[in-house]
Amino acid sequence: MKNMDIVEGRFFISGRFEDCCVGIQDGRIAKIAKVLEGDTRRRFGGAGILPGAIDAHVHFRDPGMTSKEDFGTGSTAALHGGVTCVLDMPNTSPATTTLSALRDKKKLASAKSMVDFGLYAGVREGIDVRALAKEAVGFKLYMASTTGELMVQSLADVKSELSAIAGTGKVLAVHAEDEKLRKKEPEKDLDDHLRNRNNECETSAIRKVKDAAKGCRIHICHVSAKDSLPLIQNTKELTSEVTPHHLILDKDIKVGSHAKVNPPLRKREDRHALFKALQGGTFDIIASDHAPHTLDEKAEDFDYAPSGMPGVETMLPLMLHMVEEKHLDLAGAVARLCSRPGEIFGIPKGKIAVGYDADFIVVDFSQCVMVRADRLPSKCGWTAYEGMPAIFPKSVIVRGETILDRGDVVGDQIGRDVIAARK
Ligand code: DOR
Ligand code: ZN
Ligand code: ZN
Repeated sequence: MKNMDIVEGRFFISGRFEDCCVGIQDGRIAKIAKVLEGDTRRRFGGAGILPGAIDAHVHFRDPGMTSKEDFGTGSTAALHGGVTCVLDMPNTSPATTTLSALRDKKKLASAKSMVDFGLYAGVREGIDVRALAKEAVGFKLYMASTTGELMVQSLADVKSELSAIAGTGKVLAVHAEDEKLRKKEPEKDLDDHLRNRNNECETSAIRKVKDAAKGCRIHICHVSAKDSLPLIQNTKELTSEVTPHHLILDKDIKVGSHAKVNPPLRKREDRHALFKALQGGTFDIIASDHAPHTLDEKAEDFDYAPSGMPGVETMLPLMLHMVEEKHLDLAGAVARLCSRPGEIFGIPKGKIAVGYDADFIVVDFSQCVMVRADRLPSKCGWTAYEGMPAIFPKSVIVRGETILDRGDVVGDQIGRDVIAARK
């Protein structure tokens, strides 16, 4: 008989908390019952136990840009934020567009990651879609210029690649900004940045990709404009994502280039419309778009400062605080942070159910703290959420192993590729 480890506590199962025991074998949930006997037992008293989150959109900068972040620091930040699986974007250096680059990244991530991971392949002309599809978690298409060199000039240039991607059944995640509509005026602040990348830039890109990538499982990343909502609501043609920064921050935040991101922070009315839409059931998932840059890079003149902000460690804690404040319901938050990303990307995680990976986070909803950059493990050392209230997990369990306990890393580095693990 295989060993069975028991975790006992108040688990969030099918939309509500239940006092029960979960039996874990080989890192997977084997049994759920009121009472279970096993070889070891961990009890988590009155706190709530949620599934670990899956962050389907991070930039861990490894290889090639490791002064900003690396897979070790990025995944440690994820762990502290209750994220037990990350999907890493391909705009690294080299870009993840070949099988050898994908395998190299997989190797380095396996050697460093504290949490499980999947890797995107970047779309560009001439990529070997079938080979990449076997080892990547999905494909990423950049329709406008942003960090890295993966922008596709015109969707017509990747027509055959998109049709091959449709045939693989893999997700096509899209950075939807229309490069043709992007203005290139000099920028000195967030207003200028928004003017250059206005709402139409996003809506036009969504329309174009819907048309050009028919048959693909299109996933629109970081929806940011209120005008995009009608294009993503009530349709089976695509799935969609929203970030904490587009829900919580807008262009009037006074942190200069630290809040320069693509797509940009928009007007308050956009932010409110996104939040209302989220409350009403729009958006399949919440993802961080964790895109760290160094303080030195962000200190450049606004126009030259790179776009992007960190967020993998604050995403779930900020959202749990909103739940505590009754702005969001817990079942909706857990669906968008945990179970839905698992369903969309075909990863057996994010749900407390038999057969799923035993990824749990232990949360005490009465323990609210202020976000402080000096307590966050991301290498970049800053956050746009400084001083905001958040509820961080106390303990984090990855595939049955306690990796974080009372805020300290206590477990081994066991992160592995979710696609390789499935084979
Ligand atoms: O703000 C952004 N930063 N948007 C992107 O699309 C890329 C990202 C990055 O990698 O820095
Ligand atoms: Zn993007
Ligand atoms: Zn991104």
